[in-house]
Amino acid sequence: MHFDAVIVGAGAAGLFCAGLAGEQGLKVLLIDHSDKVAEKIRISGGGRCNFTNRDLDPRAPQKHFLGDNANFCRSALARFTPNDFIALVQKHGIPFHEKHKGQLFGDRSSEDFIRMLVAECDAGGVQRWQPCKVSSVATTEGGYTLETDRGTVTTRNVVIATGGLSIPKIGATDFGYRIAKQFGVRVVEPRPALVPLTFDGDAWAPFAQLAGLALPVIIETGEKKTRIAFHEDLLFTHRGLSGPAVLQVSSYWREGQPLRIDLTAGQDIEQALRDAKARSRKLIANELAAFVPSRLADAWVQQDPAWQRPINEASDKALAQLAQRLSRWEIVPTGSEGYRKAEVTAGGVDTRDLSSQTMESKQPGLYFIGEVVDVTGWLGGYNFQWAWASAHACAHAM
Ligand code: FDA
Repeated sequence: MHFDAVIVGAGAAGLFCAGLAGEQGLKVLLIDHSDKVAEKIRISGGGRCNFTNRDLDPRAPQKHFLGDNANFCRSALARFTPNDFIALVQKHGIPFHEKHKGQLFGDRSSEDFIRMLVAECDAGGVQRWQPCKVSSVATTEGGYTLETDRGTVTTRNVVIATGGLSIPKIGATDFGYRIAKQFGVRVVEPRPALVPLTFDGDAWAPFAQLAGLALPVIIETGEKKTRIAFHEDLLFTHRGLSGPAVLQVSSYWREGQPLRIDLTAGQDIEQALRDAKARSRKLIANELAAFVPSRLADAWVQQDPAWQRPINEASDKALAQLAQRLSRWEIVPTGSEGYRKAEVTAGGVDTRDLSSQTMESKQPGLYFIGEVVDVTGWLGGYNFQWAWASAHACAHAM
Protein backbone atom coordinates (compact mmCIF):
# COMPACT_ATOMS: atom_id res chain seq x y z
CA MET A 1 0.00 0.00 0.00
CA HIS A 2 1.33 3.44 -0.85
CA PHE A 3 0.72 6.73 1.00
CA ASP A 4 1.84 10.33 0.59
CA ALA A 5 2.58 10.46 4.31
CA VAL A 6 2.79 7.94 7.14
CA ILE A 7 2.58 9.52 10.58
CA VAL A 8 3.72 7.43 13.54
CA GLY A 9 2.10 8.47 16.84
CA ALA A 10 -1.56 9.45 17.18
CA GLY A 11 -1.09 11.92 20.02
CA ALA A 12 -1.63 15.67 19.92
CA ALA A 13 0.89 16.44 17.18
CA GLY A 14 0.28 13.33 15.07
CA LEU A 15 -3.51 13.66 15.01
CA PHE A 16 -3.42 17.35 14.17
CA CYS A 17 -0.81 16.89 11.45
CA ALA A 18 -2.73 13.96 9.92
CA GLY A 19 -5.98 15.95 9.73
CA LEU A 20 -4.31 18.97 8.13
CA ALA A 21 -2.37 16.87 5.62
CA GLY A 22 -5.48 14.87 4.73
CA GLU A 23 -7.53 18.03 4.23
CA GLN A 24 -4.88 19.22 1.78
CA GLY A 25 -5.57 16.15 -0.34
CA LEU A 26 -2.67 13.95 0.77
CA LYS A 27 -3.25 10.23 1.26
CA VAL A 28 -2.33 9.81 4.92
CA LEU A 29 -1.85 6.79 7.20
CA LEU A 30 -1.72 7.40 10.97
CA ILE A 31 -0.27 4.57 13.08
CA ASP A 32 -0.20 4.16 16.87
CA HIS A 33 0.82 1.15 18.92
CA SER A 34 -1.86 1.94 21.48
CA ASP A 35 -5.51 1.05 20.87
CA LYS A 36 -6.60 4.53 22.00
CA VAL A 37 -5.62 7.88 20.52
CA ALA A 38 -4.14 10.80 22.46
CA GLU A 39 -4.02 9.36 25.96
CA LYS A 40 -2.03 12.39 27.10
CA ILE A 41 -4.70 14.79 25.93
CA ARG A 42 -7.19 12.71 27.90
CA ILE A 43 -5.29 13.12 31.20
CA SER A 44 -4.06 16.66 30.52
CA GLY A 45 -5.02 19.70 32.52
CA GLY A 46 -6.65 17.56 35.22
CA GLY A 47 -8.97 16.07 32.56
CA ARG A 48 -9.91 19.45 31.04
CA CYS A 49 -6.94 19.95 28.69
CA ASN A 50 -5.03 23.21 29.00
CA PHE A 51 -4.91 23.37 25.21
CA THR A 52 -2.99 26.63 24.66
CA ASN A 53 -1.82 29.83 26.30
CA ARG A 54 -2.83 33.37 25.33
CA ASP A 55 0.42 34.84 26.73
CA LEU A 56 2.58 32.99 24.21
CA ASP A 57 4.77 35.47 22.32
CA PRO A 58 6.33 33.86 19.22
CA ARG A 59 8.75 36.79 18.92
CA ALA A 60 10.30 35.85 22.27
CA PRO A 61 9.98 32.05 22.44
CA GLN A 62 12.82 31.73 24.96
CA LYS A 63 10.41 33.29 27.50
CA HIS A 64 8.24 30.16 27.62
CA PHE A 65 10.26 27.46 25.87
CA LEU A 66 13.59 25.79 26.48
CA GLY A 67 15.91 23.62 24.44
CA ASP A 68 19.45 23.90 23.08
CA ASN A 69 18.11 26.49 20.62
CA ALA A 70 14.97 28.03 22.07
CA ASN A 71 14.64 30.26 18.98
CA PHE A 72 14.06 27.22 16.77
CA CYS A 73 10.32 27.22 17.53
CA ARG A 74 9.84 30.90 16.59
CA SER A 75 8.82 30.38 12.96
CA ALA A 76 6.32 27.58 13.53
CA LEU A 77 4.76 29.36 16.52
CA ALA A 78 4.44 32.58 14.54
CA ARG A 79 2.72 30.82 11.63
CA PHE A 80 0.24 28.91 13.82
CA THR A 81 -0.72 30.92 16.87
CA PRO A 82 -2.95 30.26 19.89
CA ASN A 83 -5.67 32.27 18.08
CA ASP A 84 -5.50 29.88 15.14
CA PHE A 85 -6.11 26.91 17.41
CA ILE A 86 -8.82 28.79 19.31
CA ALA A 87 -10.59 29.38 15.98
CA LEU A 88 -10.64 25.61 15.38
CA VAL A 89 -11.94 24.95 18.90
CA GLN A 90 -14.70 27.52 18.32
CA LYS A 91 -15.56 26.02 14.92
CA HIS A 92 -16.21 22.74 16.74
CA GLY A 93 -18.34 24.52 19.35
CA ILE A 94 -16.15 23.49 22.28
CA PRO A 95 -16.71 25.77 25.30
CA PHE A 96 -13.56 26.92 27.09
CA HIS A 97 -12.38 29.42 29.69
CA GLU A 98 -9.22 31.18 30.79
CA LYS A 99 -7.72 30.29 34.16
CA HIS A 100 -4.77 32.37 35.29
CA LYS A 101 -1.72 33.48 33.31
CA GLY A 102 -3.34 33.05 29.89
CA GLN A 103 -4.07 29.34 30.33
CA LEU A 104 -7.07 28.12 28.30
CA PHE A 105 -8.99 25.02 29.44
CA GLY A 106 -12.02 23.18 28.11
CA ASP A 107 -15.18 23.73 30.20
CA ARG A 108 -16.21 20.08 29.98
CA SER A 109 -13.63 17.42 29.28
CA SER A 110 -10.45 16.67 27.37
CA GLU A 111 -12.54 14.25 25.31
CA ASP A 112 -13.94 17.26 23.43
CA PHE A 113 -10.49 17.97 22.00
CA ILE A 114 -9.81 14.34 21.11
CA ARG A 115 -13.15 14.13 19.30
CA MET A 116 -12.33 17.35 17.45
CA LEU A 117 -8.95 16.07 16.25
CA VAL A 118 -10.39 12.70 15.20
CA ALA A 119 -13.21 14.50 13.33
CA GLU A 120 -10.60 16.56 11.46
CA CYS A 121 -8.77 13.33 10.53
CA ASP A 122 -12.02 11.79 9.32
CA ALA A 123 -12.74 14.91 7.25
CA GLY A 124 -9.30 14.54 5.66
CA GLY A 125 -9.87 10.85 4.85
CA VAL A 126 -6.98 9.79 7.12
CA GLN A 127 -6.60 6.02 7.55
CA ARG A 128 -5.87 5.01 11.12
CA TRP A 129 -4.19 1.77 12.16
CA GLN A 130 -4.42 1.03 15.88
CA PRO A 131 -3.06 -0.84 17.68
CA CYS A 132 -0.25 -1.32 15.21
CA LYS A 133 3.50 -1.63 15.74
CA VAL A 134 6.12 -0.37 13.33
CA SER A 135 9.06 -2.75 13.32
CA SER A 136 11.27 -0.97 10.81
CA VAL A 137 11.64 2.14 8.67
CA ALA A 138 13.94 1.98 5.66
CA THR A 139 14.63 4.20 2.66
CA THR A 140 13.61 3.09 -0.83
CA GLU A 141 13.78 4.89 -4.13
CA GLY A 142 11.60 7.97 -3.82
CA GLY A 143 10.69 7.43 -0.17
CA TYR A 144 10.38 4.92 2.64
CA THR A 145 9.18 1.42 3.41
CA LEU A 146 7.71 0.66 6.83
CA GLU A 147 7.20 -2.85 8.15
CA THR A 148 4.17 -2.94 10.43
CA ASP A 149 1.95 -5.47 12.22
CA ARG A 150 -0.54 -4.98 9.41
CA GLY A 151 1.86 -5.37 6.51
CA THR A 152 4.33 -3.34 4.47
CA VAL A 153 3.61 0.25 3.49
CA THR A 154 5.52 2.64 1.25
CA THR A 155 5.39 6.42 1.45
CA ARG A 156 7.04 9.63 0.28
CA ASN A 157 7.09 11.14 3.76
CA VAL A 158 7.46 9.76 7.28
CA VAL A 159 6.44 11.92 10.22
CA ILE A 160 7.60 10.88 13.68
CA ALA A 161 5.16 12.12 16.34
CA THR A 162 5.79 9.56 19.07
CA GLY A 163 6.32 12.10 21.85
CA GLY A 164 8.76 11.83 24.76
CA LEU A 165 9.45 9.31 27.50
CA SER A 166 7.13 10.59 30.22
CA ILE A 167 4.41 8.33 31.62
CA PRO A 168 5.55 5.02 30.07
CA LYS A 169 2.47 3.24 31.43
CA ILE A 170 0.30 5.02 28.86
CA GLY A 171 2.48 4.19 25.90
CA ALA A 172 5.55 6.44 25.83
CA THR A 173 8.53 4.88 24.00
CA ASP A 174 11.94 5.91 22.69
CA PHE A 175 10.87 5.08 19.12
CA GLY A 176 11.42 8.64 17.88
CA TYR A 177 14.95 8.87 19.23
CA ARG A 178 15.84 5.46 17.76
CA ILE A 179 14.58 6.43 14.30
CA ALA A 180 16.49 9.73 14.53
CA LYS A 181 19.73 7.95 15.39
CA GLN A 182 19.15 5.37 12.64
CA PHE A 183 19.16 8.19 10.07
CA GLY A 184 22.07 10.11 11.57
CA VAL A 185 19.87 12.80 13.14
CA ARG A 186 21.37 13.89 16.45
CA VAL A 187 19.48 13.60 19.75
CA VAL A 188 19.99 15.85 22.78
CA GLU A 189 20.05 13.62 25.89
CA PRO A 190 16.41 13.41 27.08
CA ARG A 191 15.56 14.15 30.71
CA PRO A 192 12.35 14.39 32.75
CA ALA A 193 10.90 17.93 32.93
CA LEU A 194 7.88 19.51 34.61
CA VAL A 195 8.50 16.93 37.32
CA PRO A 196 8.31 16.86 41.15
CA LEU A 197 11.72 16.99 42.86
CA THR A 198 12.80 14.67 45.67
CA PHE A 199 15.12 14.91 48.68
CA ASP A 200 17.14 12.49 50.79
CA GLY A 201 15.26 10.82 53.64
CA ASP A 202 17.28 12.45 56.44
CA ALA A 203 17.44 15.92 54.93
CA TRP A 204 13.72 15.77 54.22
CA ALA A 205 12.61 14.35 57.59
CA PRO A 206 11.84 17.77 59.22
CA PHE A 207 9.62 18.75 56.26
CA ALA A 208 7.83 15.43 55.61
CA GLN A 209 5.19 16.43 58.19
CA LEU A 210 4.19 19.25 55.82
CA ALA A 211 3.00 16.83 53.08
CA GLY A 212 -0.16 18.17 51.47
CA LEU A 213 0.54 21.82 52.31
CA ALA A 214 0.34 24.26 49.38
CA LEU A 215 1.35 27.93 49.41
CA PRO A 216 2.45 30.67 46.99
CA VAL A 217 6.22 31.11 46.79
CA ILE A 218 8.95 32.62 44.66
CA ILE A 219 11.32 29.86 43.57
CA GLU A 220 14.54 30.09 41.62
CA THR A 221 17.46 28.05 40.39
CA GLY A 222 20.60 28.64 38.30
CA GLU A 223 23.21 31.39 38.57
CA LYS A 224 23.60 34.72 36.73
CA LYS A 225 22.71 34.11 33.06
CA THR A 226 20.97 30.79 33.80
CA ARG A 227 19.05 32.15 36.78
CA ILE A 228 15.28 31.69 36.44
CA ALA A 229 12.52 32.46 38.94
CA PHE A 230 8.82 31.59 39.14
CA HIS A 231 6.07 33.08 41.28
CA GLU A 232 3.72 30.10 41.66
CA ASP A 233 2.20 27.67 44.16
CA LEU A 234 4.43 25.12 45.91
CA LEU A 235 3.22 21.77 47.24
CA PHE A 236 4.99 19.77 49.96
CA THR A 237 4.84 15.99 49.38
CA HIS A 238 6.06 13.00 51.43
CA ARG A 239 9.18 12.71 49.27
CA GLY A 240 9.84 16.31 48.33
CA LEU A 241 8.34 19.27 46.51
CA SER A 242 5.80 19.58 43.74
CA GLY A 243 3.11 22.03 42.56
CA PRO A 244 3.38 24.45 39.62
CA ALA A 245 6.36 26.31 41.17
CA VAL A 246 8.52 23.20 41.35
CA LEU A 247 7.31 21.69 38.07
CA GLN A 248 8.29 24.91 36.28
CA VAL A 249 11.69 25.22 37.92
CA SER A 250 12.43 21.48 37.46
CA SER A 251 12.78 21.96 33.70
CA TYR A 252 15.75 24.26 34.34
CA TRP A 253 17.17 22.53 37.42
CA ARG A 254 20.31 20.40 36.99
CA GLU A 255 21.59 17.80 39.44
CA GLY A 256 23.63 19.27 42.29
CA GLN A 257 22.13 22.76 41.94
CA PRO A 258 20.25 24.31 44.88
CA LEU A 259 16.73 25.68 44.78
CA ARG A 260 16.23 29.05 46.48
CA ILE A 261 12.71 29.44 47.79
CA ASP A 262 11.02 32.47 49.28
CA LEU A 263 8.26 30.87 51.33
CA THR A 264 6.86 34.32 52.12
CA ALA A 265 6.32 35.08 48.40
CA GLY A 266 8.03 38.47 48.69
CA GLN A 267 6.58 39.74 51.98
CA ASP A 268 8.86 41.71 54.33
CA ILE A 269 8.62 39.25 57.23
CA GLU A 270 11.59 40.64 59.14
CA GLN A 271 9.97 44.04 59.56
CA ALA A 272 6.60 42.46 60.29
CA LEU A 273 8.08 40.31 63.09
CA ARG A 274 9.88 43.30 64.59
CA ASP A 275 6.61 45.27 64.57
CA ALA A 276 4.84 42.31 66.22
CA LYS A 277 7.54 42.09 68.90
CA ALA A 278 6.76 45.68 69.93
CA ARG A 279 3.05 45.00 70.52
CA SER A 280 2.50 41.27 71.15
CA ARG A 281 3.24 38.54 73.69
CA LYS A 282 2.06 35.71 71.51
CA LEU A 283 4.30 32.84 70.45
CA ILE A 284 6.44 33.58 67.41
CA ALA A 285 4.67 30.76 65.49
CA ASN A 286 1.31 32.44 66.09
CA GLU A 287 2.53 35.80 64.80
CA LEU A 288 4.18 34.11 61.82
CA ALA A 289 0.88 32.46 60.95
CA ALA A 290 -0.42 35.85 59.81
CA PHE A 291 1.96 35.64 56.84
CA VAL A 292 2.39 31.95 56.03
CA PRO A 293 0.10 28.93 56.63
CA SER A 294 0.03 28.03 60.33
CA ARG A 295 1.18 24.46 59.61
CA LEU A 296 4.32 25.88 58.04
CA ALA A 297 4.81 28.40 60.86
CA ASP A 298 4.50 25.65 63.52
CA ALA A 299 6.91 23.32 61.73
CA TRP A 300 9.38 26.06 60.88
CA VAL A 301 9.96 27.30 64.42
CA GLN A 302 10.84 23.72 65.48
CA GLN A 303 14.19 24.22 63.74
CA ASP A 304 15.58 26.52 66.44
CA PRO A 305 14.76 26.80 70.18
CA ALA A 306 15.28 30.58 69.89
CA TRP A 307 12.10 30.66 67.74
CA GLN A 308 9.95 28.71 70.20
CA ARG A 309 9.04 31.48 72.62
CA PRO A 310 6.80 34.54 72.97
CA ILE A 311 7.78 37.09 70.35
CA ASN A 312 8.44 39.85 72.90
CA GLU A 313 11.15 37.62 74.45
CA ALA A 314 12.90 36.92 71.14
CA SER A 315 16.10 38.70 70.16
CA ASP A 316 16.12 40.85 67.00
CA LYS A 317 18.86 38.59 65.69
CA ALA A 318 16.72 35.45 66.15
CA LEU A 319 13.79 37.11 64.36
CA ALA A 320 16.06 38.25 61.53
CA GLN A 321 17.42 34.71 61.15
CA LEU A 322 13.90 33.28 61.12
CA ALA A 323 12.82 35.75 58.43
CA GLN A 324 15.90 35.02 56.39
CA ARG A 325 15.50 31.24 56.67
CA LEU A 326 11.91 31.54 55.44
CA SER A 327 12.55 33.93 52.60
CA ARG A 328 15.85 32.43 51.47
CA TRP A 329 15.36 28.72 52.05
CA GLU A 330 18.10 26.98 50.10
CA ILE A 331 17.81 23.27 49.53
CA VAL A 332 19.45 20.83 47.09
CA PRO A 333 17.16 18.18 45.59
CA THR A 334 18.68 14.71 45.33
CA GLY A 335 16.69 13.87 42.22
CA SER A 336 13.27 13.89 40.60
CA GLU A 337 10.28 11.57 40.43
CA GLY A 338 11.49 10.71 36.92
CA TYR A 339 9.51 9.85 33.79
CA ARG A 340 6.86 8.11 35.90
CA LYS A 341 5.59 11.53 37.04
CA ALA A 342 7.13 13.98 34.53
CA GLU A 343 4.63 15.89 32.38
CA VAL A 344 7.13 16.20 29.55
CA THR A 345 10.57 15.18 28.33
CA ALA A 346 13.19 17.88 27.80
CA GLY A 347 15.88 17.24 25.19
CA GLY A 348 15.09 15.08 22.18
CA VAL A 349 15.66 15.36 18.44
CA ASP A 350 18.37 17.97 17.95
CA THR A 351 16.99 21.08 16.28
CA ARG A 352 20.33 21.61 14.49
CA ASP A 353 19.31 18.70 12.26
CA LEU A 354 15.75 19.97 11.59
CA SER A 355 14.32 22.77 9.44
CA SER A 356 12.53 25.30 11.63
CA GLN A 357 10.24 26.06 8.65
CA THR A 358 9.08 22.51 7.95
CA MET A 359 10.30 20.17 10.72
CA GLU A 360 11.97 18.09 8.00
CA SER A 361 15.21 16.52 9.17
CA LYS A 362 18.45 16.47 7.25
CA GLN A 363 17.21 13.10 5.98
CA PRO A 364 14.82 14.22 3.16
CA GLY A 365 11.20 13.19 3.71
CA LEU A 366 11.70 12.38 7.41
CA TYR A 367 9.98 14.83 9.79
CA PHE A 368 9.83 15.13 13.59
CA ILE A 369 7.04 17.03 15.37
CA GLY A 370 5.77 17.64 18.90
CA GLU A 371 7.45 16.59 22.10
CA VAL A 372 9.99 14.25 20.46
CA VAL A 373 11.82 17.43 19.35
CA ASP A 374 14.20 19.30 21.68
CA VAL A 375 11.60 22.02 22.35
CA THR A 376 10.02 22.05 25.81
CA GLY A 377 7.37 24.48 26.94
CA TRP A 378 6.47 25.84 30.33
CA LEU A 379 3.53 24.48 32.23
CA GLY A 380 0.31 26.18 31.10
CA GLY A 381 -0.62 25.01 27.58
CA TYR A 382 2.70 25.80 25.91
CA ASN A 383 3.52 22.16 25.13
CA PHE A 384 0.25 21.60 23.32
CA GLN A 385 0.71 24.82 21.35
CA TRP A 386 4.12 23.52 20.25
CA ALA A 387 2.48 20.22 19.21
CA TRP A 388 -0.14 22.11 17.12
CA ALA A 389 2.35 24.56 15.60
CA SER A 390 5.01 22.01 14.68
CA ALA A 391 2.32 19.73 13.21
CA HIS A 392 0.98 22.63 11.15
CA ALA A 393 4.44 23.54 9.81
CA CYS A 394 5.05 19.92 8.80
CA ALA A 395 1.62 19.32 7.24
CA HIS A 396 2.00 22.36 4.98
CA ALA A 397 5.46 21.28 3.84
CA MET A 398 4.67 17.77 2.64
P1 FDA B 1 1.99 12.46 22.70
O1 FDA B 1 2.68 11.85 23.86
O2 FDA B 1 0.74 13.22 22.91
O3 FDA B 1 1.67 11.33 21.61
C1 FDA B 1 2.59 10.36 21.24
C2 FDA B 1 1.82 9.19 20.63
O4 FDA B 1 2.77 8.29 20.07
C3 FDA B 1 1.02 8.41 21.65
O5 FDA B 1 -0.29 8.21 21.18
C4 FDA B 1 1.78 7.08 21.78
O6 FDA B 1 0.92 5.97 22.02
C5 FDA B 1 2.43 6.97 20.39
N1 FDA B 1 3.62 6.15 20.37
C6 FDA B 1 4.68 6.19 21.22
N2 FDA B 1 5.58 5.27 20.85
C7 FDA B 1 5.11 4.65 19.76
C8 FDA B 1 5.59 3.59 18.93
N3 FDA B 1 6.76 3.00 19.18
N4 FDA B 1 4.84 3.21 17.87
C9 FDA B 1 3.63 3.78 17.64
N5 FDA B 1 3.11 4.76 18.39
C10 FDA B 1 3.85 5.21 19.44
N6 FDA B 1 0.60 20.03 27.95
C11 FDA B 1 -0.14 21.15 27.81
O7 FDA B 1 0.19 21.99 26.97
N7 FDA B 1 -1.23 21.36 28.62
C12 FDA B 1 -1.63 20.47 29.57
O8 FDA B 1 -2.67 20.64 30.23
C13 FDA B 1 -0.82 19.30 29.75
N8 FDA B 1 -1.13 18.43 30.76
C14 FDA B 1 -0.37 17.28 30.88
C15 FDA B 1 -0.68 16.38 31.91
C16 FDA B 1 0.06 15.21 32.04
C17 FDA B 1 -0.25 14.27 33.18
C18 FDA B 1 1.08 14.91 31.11
C19 FDA B 1 1.86 13.62 31.18
C20 FDA B 1 1.39 15.81 30.09
C21 FDA B 1 0.68 17.01 29.98
N9 FDA B 1 1.00 17.94 28.99
C22 FDA B 1 0.27 19.09 28.88
C23 FDA B 1 2.06 17.68 27.99
C24 FDA B 1 1.42 17.21 26.67
O9 FDA B 1 0.53 16.15 26.94
C25 FDA B 1 2.48 16.75 25.68
O10 FDA B 1 3.48 17.73 25.53
C26 FDA B 1 1.84 16.48 24.32
O11 FDA B 1 0.88 15.45 24.45
C27 FDA B 1 2.89 16.08 23.30
O12 FDA B 1 2.24 15.73 22.12
P2 FDA B 1 2.90 14.68 21.13
O13 FDA B 1 1.88 14.42 20.09
O14 FDA B 1 4.24 15.12 20.73
O15 FDA B 1 3.10 13.35 22.00
